[in-house]
Amino acid sequence: MKLKKQLSNLPGDKSITHRAVMFSSLAEGTSTFRTSVLGRDNFSTIRIFQQLGIDIHLALTSEMSILAKDEQIKNISHTEEEKNVVTIISKGLPSLVAPSSVLDCGNSGTTARLLLGVLSATNFESTLVGDHSLSKRPFQRVTEPLSKMGSIFSGDLLPITVKGSVKLMATELEMKKASAQVKSALLIAGMFAEGLTKISEPVLSRDHTERMLSAMGVDLIKEVINGKYYVSVKGDSKRLLNPFNIEIPGDISAAMFYIVSALVSEHQGILVQGVGINTTRSRCLDLLIELGANIEFQNNRLVAGEPVADLFIMPSKLKPFNLDQEQVAQMIDEIPILSVLAAFIDGESVFRGAEELRVKESDRITCTAKILKSFGVQVAEFEDGLSIKGMTFSNDQSVADTEWQGTGDHRIEMSASVMRFLKTGELLIDDLKAVETSFPGFINAWE
Ligand code: S3P
Repeated sequence: MKLKKQLSNLPGDKSITHRAVMFSSLAEGTSTFRTSVLGRDNFSTIRIFQQLGIDIHLALTSEMSILAKDEQIKNISHTEEEKNVVTIISKGLPSLVAPSSVLDCGNSGTTARLLLGVLSATNFESTLVGDHSLSKRPFQRVTEPLSKMGSIFSGDLLPITVKGSVKLMATELEMKKASAQVKSALLIAGMFAEGLTKISEPVLSRDHTERMLSAMGVDLIKEVINGKYYVSVKGDSKRLLNPFNIEIPGDISAAMFYIVSALVSEHQGILVQGVGINTTRSRCLDLLIELGANIEFQNNRLVAGEPVADLFIMPSKLKPFNLDQEQVAQMIDEIPILSVLAAFIDGESVFRGAEELRVKESDRITCTAKILKSFGVQVAEFEDGLSIKGMTFSNDQSVADTEWQGTGDHRIEMSASVMRFLKTGELLIDDLKAVETSFPGFINAWE
């Protein structure tokens, strides 16, 4: 008889939560969302919209309150309920006012890039700053097309001062690489611009923006032409979105740390509840099933217009994988933990076409290789990926240096922690603050 463990407090999906805060701030009326856990990145977005004059109230559990206060969030009350409740009251874009200080995006690329889209449609100047990692990440991918629409930026690296324009002009952009952040920034600005903003991408990146905006009353035109994915929006400078009352689905990228552990560990299956399985995010699950993973989908349902299921995962013997650019694009955030999984699969697993990973919260190709090498796993590093020879662990301390240096990158820290747990049974995390970026309570959930 297999022992079944249950994980019910998965963090709310980080991407959806950022959008819920931003889009409800552009709505007319009172919006509410409920979520089990909020990470530091989401608190950055909430703090910034409070600074921009939006009335945001949070009813939080004790654990979340501590984090929220540390992130300088205002209007916090206590709730005894399991879920945290965030209420946003706005009169739409005109409710945004010039901030009296810089807007600190912390570690969050999604906050900064989508925010540039919002601020482009305002008539004031604001300055975005970020932490050490975010200050090194590229922004030209959004500043360039937004400049064409009429917004003015001081540069392409944070700190960036942006001067919006109330007379934005629509634009067309053919993205060479799929990016939900770029697509979203342009759709946000495009909603308020004169004319039709049309964006194309070679692979459909996560579509939470499209789903949420459509649910809030925005007419989006979605087309697939010659294998390319197009989305267009007709601008309206007086646009007001409809408010919402939603539940945030659990974050599949956070769930993957437990899914991978359950597949590798030998004795027990786990049930991860309330996982968002939107097809633009669940490619990693399809891959695992193709490789032989025993994953059962239970209780399939729709939450806030997003498909959600409980996943029952049993230990499974898997085949190695070989991922190309298109596959990588659809599971970009899961590559570090999939690489940890590859270390436990007999044979050689490879992913290529992933140069984008070098400009995430850390250089995720090099950092992932370091995690694997620190356990003696044989890894070859390419400019755009890794090749990993599974089951080549070494106990030879001259090869396997099990000391892992903190990177400040939440996904790398959690991947390293899973690796160490699966090899040594130890529950250790080097950089708790980094993990709190997306998954406060990661260790508690393990326990
Ligand atoms: C995100 C999009 C992805 C992803 C990031 C979150 C989003 O980035 O890696 O963690 O919420 O839009 P890109 O759009 O740069 O691929």
